[in-house]
Formats: sequence, C-alpha cells, structure tokens
Amino acid sequence: MTIQWFPGHMTRARREIEAKLKLIDIAIELLDARVPLSSRNPMVDDILKGKPRLILLNKTDLADARTTDKWMAYFADMGHTSLAIDASTGTRVNEIPVRVKQLLHEKIARQISKGITPRAVRGLIVGIPNVGKSTLINRLAGRAIAATGDRPGVTKGQQWIKVGTEMELLDTPGILWPKFEDQHVGMKLAMTGAIKEQVINVEEVAFFAVKELTKRYWDSMSERFSLTNPPKDYDDADEIVRVMEDIGRKRGCLVSGGRVDLEKASGIILRELRAGNLGRITLESPEDMM
Ligand code: G4P
Repeated sequence: MTIQWFPGHMTRARREIEAKLKLIDIAIELLDARVPLSSRNPMVDDILKGKPRLILLNKTDLADARTTDKWMAYFADMGHTSLAIDASTGTRVNEIPVRVKQLLHEKIARQISKGITPRAVRGLIVGIPNVGKSTLINRLAGRAIAATGDRPGVTKGQQWIKVGTEMELLDTPGILWPKFEDQHVGMKLAMTGAIKEQVINVEEVAFFAVKELTKRYWDSMSERFSLTNPPKDYDDADEIVRVMEDIGRKRGCLVSGGRVDLEKASGIILRELRAGNLGRITLESPEDMM
C-alpha cells in the first residue's frame, strides 16, 4: 500500500517513533541497497537523537555488490556500523544480533561491572515504507508477525519478539517518510517499486529509468533488450524516447500504423527492472555526492 504523507502524518509518525525510542537500546535503520540515499529519511539523525544505531542495507540480492561495498565504506566513514543483508532469503540476517551486541558492548560491560545481569538488548526497526521492515521482522522472529504494508497511526498492541536469547525486537517497526522534496528521489523510489503504480505516471518513471539505466548499465540494458544503439546524449529527451521505442519494438508493443505503445513498453521496462531481470542494479553511489 502506498502511503500519502502529509505534515500531520509525519508528525504522528515521528511521535510514534519517539515513544518507541524510550523502550529500546538500539535503532536498526533499514535502507534499500539500490537507493541508499533516496530510501533514507532526511531527518533520521534528528529523530533517532544519538541512539546507538545499526544501518542495514537490504535487498542486496537486487543491488550492485561493488556499490554496496562502497556504501558500507561510506557509512563507516560517517562513524556508522552497517551490514548488507537480504531479508527475503535471510542472507546475513543472523549477524544482526551479533552486531547489535558489539555496538552495545560498553553498556553491557557497565551493567556487568555493577553486578547487574544484563537483560536482552531491545531493538526497533525503522525505515520508509517498502524497504523490507516487515519481511525482516518476520525473518528475525522465525515466523509471520508483522503484516507487510504497515501504516503510521495504525497500531496494534506492541510486543517483544525474541531473537535468540540475547535480543528482543518491537514487533511493530518505526515508519519513516522519504525525502519527497527532491523529484529524483520520488522517481528512484517509483523505479524500485517503493511507490506504487496507481500514484505514478508509468511512462514518466520509465523515461527516467531508461535515462539512468542506459547511462549506468548500458551492457545489461543492451543484453536484456537486444539494443545496439545507446543514447548519444542522455539529456536529449528524444534520444531516451527513441531507446524506449526500440525496447517496445523488440517486445512487440506495437499499435496501428506500426507505432510503439509507449505505455506498454514502460510497464515492461519497470516490471523487469523490479524483478531483477536487468541484473543487479544500484541507482546511487557515494561518488554521486562528490
Ligand atoms: P515494509 O514492511 O518496509 O513496508 O516492507 P515489506 O517487508 O512489506 O517488503 C516490501 C517488499 O519488498 C515485499 O515484496 C518484500 O517481499 C520485498 N523484500 C523485502 N526484503 C527483500 C529483499 O531482501 N530482497 C528482495 N528481493 N525483496 C525484498 P512484495 O510482498 O512482493 O510486495 P511488493 O513487491 O508488492 O511491494
């Protein structure tokens, strides 16, 4: 489900997270490895207010592994511990409790030195819609707990889920909102499927996708769609549309008069991208910020 965010929703979401922060030792911030910047809430540092934090780059099965490594180095430079996971299959998910304990070792050591037996560390998963929060909670719990597609303000009774013997997790995640002011953020989230078809213009997103993908991943694009002619100028809209038409022709998206049905071609491009059929693709790299 796509959430329409208004200032009132953001205020409520923020309050909900702040209330949950009081209950936990560590925040687990979930990002989409394909768009680590666009899937990051712009106010996350302010909202989490210095709580110990583990950053998870999720959906690494769909992301470019080399760029994921660069992002991990980037977060390390910012002083954050990060881990690259795939919540849908569980890859490296079992390292989460280990990293959490490492991040909290000073607090735990202090408790032990005071003669207190440390209780299980308590965590909260936070992230924007569709980054995989519910999938991860279910994976960590080893059973279906969280309904996917949670909305802010739709709360149920909160419970602690045991993750092994030394960690507990709140069963409802903290839902954050993305950086809507930047139009490219919206486009990238739509490309990855985080913003749903009903609220986007498919052709507009596919146009943006073809521009980005031919620039960054021409080899994968040309192989998947049997293309031979890359855009000569990425800023020339006619050239991008020409590539979209080439794809449409290859996939038989034709209407009367031999014209290409761009809407149909756009749907195919986005479906194949999201399913990972174009290979592992990351749309943002730390170098873009330099
Ligand atoms: P949320 O709670 O943060 O909103 O996200 P949720 O767990 O509902 O996950 C959103 C979609 O992302 C789900 O797809 C889920 O299966 C998929 N997903 C989560 N983690 C991973 C991952 O590591 N790799 C891959 N490839 N997919 C992942 P869905 O149920 O099909 O929903 P949708 O595609 O219709 O949005």
